[in-house]
Amino acid sequence: MALIIKNGTIYTASDSYRADILAEGEKITHIAGKITAGKGDEVIDASGLEIYPGAIDVHTHLDMPFMGTVTADDFESGTIAAACGGTTALIDFATPAKGQPLGDAIKLWHKKAGGKSAIDYGFHIAIIEFNERVASEIPALIKEGITSIKCFLAYKGALMINDGEFIQTLEVAKRHGALVSVHAENGEMLTYLAGKLVAEGKTGPEYHEASHPAIAEGEAVHRGAALAKLAGTPLYIVHTSCKEALDEIKIAMADQRVIFGETCPQYLLLSNKLYHGNGFEAAKWVMSPPLRDGENNQIMWNAVRDGFIKVIATDHCSFNFKGQKDAGISSFAKIPNGAPGIGDRVNLVYSYGVAQGKISRNKFAEVMSTNPAKIFGMFPKKGSIAIGSDADFTIIDPAKKGKISVKTSHHKVDYNSFEGFKLHGMNVMTVSRGRLIARDDKFLGAIDHGQYLKRNKFNPDEWSAQ
Ligand code: URP
Ligand code: ZN
Ligand code: ZN
Repeated sequence: MALIIKNGTIYTASDSYRADILAEGEKITHIAGKITAGKGDEVIDASGLEIYPGAIDVHTHLDMPFMGTVTADDFESGTIAAACGGTTALIDFATPAKGQPLGDAIKLWHKKAGGKSAIDYGFHIAIIEFNERVASEIPALIKEGITSIKCFLAYKGALMINDGEFIQTLEVAKRHGALVSVHAENGEMLTYLAGKLVAEGKTGPEYHEASHPAIAEGEAVHRGAALAKLAGTPLYIVHTSCKEALDEIKIAMADQRVIFGETCPQYLLLSNKLYHGNGFEAAKWVMSPPLRDGENNQIMWNAVRDGFIKVIATDHCSFNFKGQKDAGISSFAKIPNGAPGIGDRVNLVYSYGVAQGKISRNKFAEVMSTNPAKIFGMFPKKGSIAIGSDADFTIIDPAKKGKISVKTSHHKVDYNSFEGFKLHGMNVMTVSRGRLIARDDKFLGAIDHGQYLKRNKFNPDEWSAQ
């Protein structure tokens, strides 16, 4: 049976046009002004609706052990929330424990996700130590389609690697065709500041921000970019939050280096005022980097609009307020870092970006789908509305209004970081490989529908300086 989407307006990263779409099996097979349905075809009437290539979230932490606990959302709840919110694919961080072979971590992540994912999924591999064993394992992972590596310059004593380990990782990645991404904050600065604040009796969650200053982020982006320049390789900066970090990205771009910046809705929409006047509830927004001020929010929107930020992902890393975040009641340094967002990204970025005129519809398609697919080796299977591509669509009603609430959220976590945010323009249908998997926030798919995405190698030659 075929699926025909009629009367909608298609928006890709480069084009906007009215057309019908025919999907046969899992692929797009025809796009034309008018396509007539055959007997038995499923028809979606998209009159008044906007059709985008399926949104892709390349930064999630599902079912991940972290800071003495495990993230609240697993692949089942996380991918259902993603599907209902208009996301059709994600890349999660397979994160090994110290000493654990990378291959074992990947096997474990396949076990977590296999048969329990409503949407397609791939994995980045986190490198939390570098030695001969780690180096020797990387080529095999790349052959399996794990073509991106994540390093942390923060979380000293846990995930952080030093500059020597980082440069060796960059070199191995370059040799075998992987892209390295980096959590850019100076872990030494953060550890020093947290220790100092706690020693002074400043233990509440409102001090988290002071222990993660913007200079620590700017310094680490600078250093990461310098080490990538030395290794002669591109670099992807995750969850960029502030001007100090962005300025370093701009300097590297001006120097003709290939550097990709990512940001997340929390750094576009939430202000650091949330850390004050909320008592211990401020722990809900303890994440790294921390929320910045409203001026930085605007700077980040401008950077998306102007092409300095290439991707908007979520960094979905959910912990319950009761029973998880409260591990840090005696010290902010013990609050598990992270917040939910996977189900809300599409609606938030559309409502506050497109509908408010901050970014165009084509830019929305670019940063939510096409760039993530291109950068992480999934294009044109994903990230495109073209014949032969997967029939993945995020279908938005620009007139639909709503409000974000933990009460209606599909996340398996007891709060929503964007509680009360009004929406104007919402995802109303999500199509994954030719199947309607969500409609009006109701999940219609199957929990074993999602397939593993074996991604292509990263090819730096495809990326000249932007
Ligand atoms: O606070 C955050 N961002 N938690 C998730 C882990 C990471 O740093 O990405
Ligand atoms: Zn991070
Ligand atoms: Zn993260």
